[in-house]
Amino acid sequence: MEENKKIPQHVAIILDGNGRWAKAKGLPRNYGHKQGAKAVEDILVVARDMGIKYLTVYAFSTENWNRPETEVSALMMILRQYLKSSIKKSMKNNVRCQVIGERSKLSSDIQDAINELETATAGNTGLTFTIAINYGSRDEIVRAVRKIAAECEDGKLKPEDISEEMISNNLDTANLPDPDLMIRTCGEQRLSNFLLWQCAYTEFYYTDIAWPDFDEKQLQMAVDAYGNRNRKFGGLKNDSEA
Ligand code: IPE
Ligand code: IPE
Ligand code: MG
Repeated sequence: MEENKKIPQHVAIILDGNGRWAKAKGLPRNYGHKQGAKAVEDILVVARDMGIKYLTVYAFSTENWNRPETEVSALMMILRQYLKSSIKKSMKNNVRCQVIGERSKLSSDIQDAINELETATAGNTGLTFTIAINYGSRDEIVRAVRKIAAECEDGKLKPEDISEEMISNNLDTANLPDPDLMIRTCGEQRLSNFLLWQCAYTEFYYTDIAWPDFDEKQLQMAVDAYGNRNRKFGGLKNDSEA
């Protein structure tokens, strides 16, 4: 293994398998979600200590509303508690927190908790932690296109002046670099509508471990795998080819 291992600047994670993890133990799915929230708290500190600057997690998709009402409300309760308890911990850990996704569909107290958390932690510099809630990449792109189209309609912008950078800057992730590494747990190998535009050149890592069991060792394995990848961005970056 190389001495100077490359650390991904931005790691995105599709937290998957809470339900299967609980079911395998004969426990209710919602117990899996609770343990999943704990695993997020723990991995945040591990990621910061590894030198990762941005961590983005997929907590609730625009499609997750299709789950049974009891599961949706349990997830919302866990998110509510997570957001509220995060202020103190984030201040202690120097973590800046933000939420991406469409907020208007969330209950007003969750929207308030998001605003409070974002405001309180805005000055923290250790790691930027982004939680995707009611997030869908297609929805995000539609919202961005609408904003840009409105500027065209107002005569402020010409269609031919629309650039890739402008699109990136109108996404919810405007203040984030594109992810270097995307991790998905529990065996599935798909994006499920997460960061479609942003993952154009992201490295993917899949593991069979269910999210509640994803710990420091697991993250280290993913980061090591990333360190051994040869990112080429369409060019010829391999030493032997240069
Ligand atoms: C991930 O675990 C959490 C959310 C999607 C909210 P799942 O709930 O998807 O767990 P599985 O995939 O059913 O096991
Ligand atoms: C993706 O997981 C969404 C989140 C992790 C929040 P899902 O479990 O909802 O995805 P699918 O349905 O298996 O694609
Ligand atoms: Mg799942």
